[in-house]
Amino acid sequence: MSVKLHVNVDHVATLRQARGTSYPDPVDAALACEAAGAHGITVHQREDRRHIQPHDVERLRVKVKTILNLEMAATDAMVELATRVKPDFVTLVPEKREERTTEGGLDVAGQRASLAAITKRLHHAGISVSMFIDPEPAQIDASIEVGADHIELHTGDYANATGDRVTHELDRIGAAARHNATSSRPLHLAAGHGLSVANVGALLEAAPEIVELNVGHAIVSDAVIVGMEEAVRRFLRAMERT
Ligand code: PXP
Repeated sequence: MSVKLHVNVDHVATLRQARGTSYPDPVDAALACEAAGAHGITVHQREDRRHIQPHDVERLRVKVKTILNLEMAATDAMVELATRVKPDFVTLVPEKREERTTEGGLDVAGQRASLAAITKRLHHAGISVSMFIDPEPAQIDASIEVGADHIELHTGDYANATGDRVTHELDRIGAAARHNATSSRPLHLAAGHGLSVANVGALLEAAPEIVELNVGHAIVSDAVIVGMEEAVRRFLRAMERT
């Protein structure tokens, strides 16, 4: 089965928020991702609104023609936003205000009752639910138990690993993927965090069960460099006196 790519456009909004301008617009970025063949668009509505704003999620819902995945903390305020905007699915993530990015997976095994209740509310609104978890069998079993439809394995430890740790982390992800595939109710299997052109190939070889990737920072970073020549050419043209 071919693997789907969902592009996370949060960091386009990070650039916008840095200057308080209306550009660059994450909606324009999402449409460019779709034009290039991305299979879905992902955004993380953080509670501190450091990049994506609720208005962005509303506009993306109207414009995105593929799949809209809303990453969010498992809170009442976020469930209200999701049930109003109705993304195709929601990914529940742990969130700490002081972190630079999502540092670890959600402890589904440690909060089964509350996550089962939130999953039920989202299902009631017609929204599928994914759990962003560490590649651990106990978290996969708990995700199945609370009624999740998808899981996304956190690949940050793999992305940050060096030396012998790389094989260790790939083995861990591969084992988790097989655990899901052979479980009583295998969940749609995604992976993400820290993925790049350099490390994605080995991941997909280690875990062929993965059917979807969420990639943000590396693609937005590449876009800045790949697009720089054209941006400068455009500006030079704008400077020409007629
Ligand atoms: N998946 C989830 C659940 C995330 O929280 C993030 C970061 O927002 C990503 C994927 C994308 O990670 P990266 O920006 O490192 O590609």
